Amino acid sequence: MLLLAVAGSAAFINVPGEPQQQAPAAVPVVRPSTPKRVEQGEKIVTVMCAHCHRNPSTNTLAGRPMPDLGTDFGKLYSANITKDPKFGIGDWTDQQIVTMVRTGAGPDGRLRVAMPHFAYLSDEDASSIVAFLRSNNALVQPTAEPSHPQELSPLGKNLLQNVLKPTPLVKHLADAPPASQPVALGHYLVIGRYQCYFCHSQDFSTNNEAKPELSKGFLGGGHKLLDDELNVRVSRNLTMDPETGLGKWNEAQFSKAVKFGMAPTGILHAPMPKFSTMTDEEVHALWAYLKTVPKIKNATPEDVAVNTK
Ligand code: HEC
Ligand code: HEC
Repeated sequence: MLLLAVAGSAAFINVPGEPQQQAPAAVPVVRPSTPKRVEQGEKIVTVMCAHCHRNPSTNTLAGRPMPDLGTDFGKLYSANITKDPKFGIGDWTDQQIVTMVRTGAGPDGRLRVAMPHFAYLSDEDASSIVAFLRSNNALVQPTAEPSHPQELSPLGKNLLQNVLKPTPLVKHLADAPPASQPVALGHYLVIGRYQCYFCHSQDFSTNNEAKPELSKGFLGGGHKLLDDELNVRVSRNLTMDPETGLGKWNEAQFSKAVKFGMAPTGILHAPMPKFSTMTDEEVHALWAYLKTVPKIKNATPEDVAVNTK
């Protein structure tokens, strides 16, 4: 496992054609809003943020109870991230929003527990998220609903005080690699824009947000998540191992699984997002990059069912 992890980090450093990364800046670069950025921000937020932040009664990103995060840490609630200046994040600066999304720490320094850290988000994608959160889209209209405070269990409190830390600022890209460099683009999508590795490695507790390739079982699946009905769903092995991973799939099967949740193994359930707005170039880039990831043998439940048929 250690060997694989080390090989993984070497692969990271050597991704062919990986463009120059930006040194971490304490004050993040936020580019101005344009219609194109609002559109790109909508694409990212609807697939990466709305599942957790959408309040079903207001149908805005006003936050909700999150029983689907389990109860070990206590009762968790996502926050109101609408434009409301009092109850949402309308009075946060653009830079505060980006810092929060990359590191998990708010302007007050408090770590927002249970929120994934998009450490490798490019300046362009981060700017697009901000542009969307500030837009006239119905999802972000000011909603006067206070964010519910977290009700942490003793374990949750202990972890928050002693273990969980904001992710340090890391070198990140200014712009996503172009589609003409599919491996580099796929790598960025997996660790940056769509965070596939975060769910598809062994466990949240052994993920490494500052060095994703050092996450235990990087992309080998096995993390146990809950779907909307609170059934356990085990994330699948995305490495090219032919028996337990995607080694026998083709790109068209992968595309249908990622975009529409229709896998050769059956229908995919939440919390696997349906990336229905993903472009074919993105799907191709993901597939090209996954082919370069060190294979891991790890039979996740549905794979076992398929392989014994
Ligand atoms: C797995 C669920 C989950 C996902 C996915 C998620 N969030 Fe969150 N987010 C949370 C939770 C839970 C909190 C509140 C944590 C707390 O208050 O301790 C939070 C807090 C926040 C806050 C701080 C709000 C405040 O008032 O403190 C911002 C800003 C935010 N999220 C933005 C985003 C954006 C943008 C995305 C997508 C790029 C996103 N979140 C994706 C669960 C999630
Ligand atoms: C929020 C967590 C989460 C994220 C983010 C995520 N996935 Fe998944 N994925 C899952 C879960 C859970 C399953 C299993 C679903 C089930 O059991 O029905 C899954 C299943 C899959 C499968 C089916 C594999 C098989 O063997 O049947 C593929 C392919 C896949 N994901 C690819 C991706 C890619 C590519 C990304 C990033 C673009 C991604 N996933 C992001 C949680 C996630």
